[in-house]
Amino acid sequence: MTISRKNNNSPIALFDSGVGGLTVLNKLKKILPDEKYVYYGDTLHMPYGEKSKEQLLKYSDDIFRFFESKGCKAVVMACNTTSSVVYEDVKDNYDFKLFSIVHSVSEVLSKLDIKRLGIFATRATIISGAYQRKIAEYNSDMQVFGQYCPMWVHIVEENSMNMPENQQIIKSDLDKMLKNNPEKIVLGCTHYPFLTEILSQNAQSDLFIDPSDYFAEYIKTYLEKNNMLADEKNGENEFYVSSNPEQFKKSAQMFCKLDKLPKLLTF
Ligand code: DGL
Repeated sequence: MTISRKNNNSPIALFDSGVGGLTVLNKLKKILPDEKYVYYGDTLHMPYGEKSKEQLLKYSDDIFRFFESKGCKAVVMACNTTSSVVYEDVKDNYDFKLFSIVHSVSEVLSKLDIKRLGIFATRATIISGAYQRKIAEYNSDMQVFGQYCPMWVHIVEENSMNMPENQQIIKSDLDKMLKNNPEKIVLGCTHYPFLTEILSQNAQSDLFIDPSDYFAEYIKTYLEKNNMLADEKNGENEFYVSSNPEQFKKSAQMFCKLDKLPKLLTF
């Protein structure tokens, strides 16, 4: 792969099925404020966690071609589901550096000084076994308990986490996980950090790990080492969605206040 057509001030692109990837964008903006970011939320096809590998390959390919057309120097899979299910198949196919959250953070997770690690993620992520496999490559002594939470992505996209029935769903999924006595629990879907406050009302807040902290550091280190960081302050960030820009703007506000509506773009 070459990145010869790009320069340091080309944008970094991120994508997810919706607002979840904003948890990663938020971290990146803090540590790499000069970069220009392009964000695509594939809200039309949300939830990715319930889609087949073929569907996820198709959605990712359409989005990657769009990012290529924008001349992006790097693309961030701010989505654990596509990282788990399609990254290995596509990582060398495009004209940009591709970052996968699962592949970038598993080594750090494997080095935590604990024996029992819980992972909350989507159905597709858990069934793929990607986290379990990658962590075992570095540390085969760590016991990993994966659990999927079918309603959590919808709750975040609808911004309905304060409804009592949704709080009950979150609590009951958490109680199920707590039966494994995990020493830490990874929020292995980029939507889940939106629920940190509610989770922390039902368990100690330091139980939860948002892997986007490690992911953002990993991306920064890579760009630094490869002399790919922006060398000037770049332009306004761009936001795109494949449906319902108004709802995206509303749900996004916890992590990212958007001045204007994201643009509607489908392939
Ligand atoms: N936020 C994504 C993830 O990290 C996708 C969630 C979904 O659409 O199911 O897995």
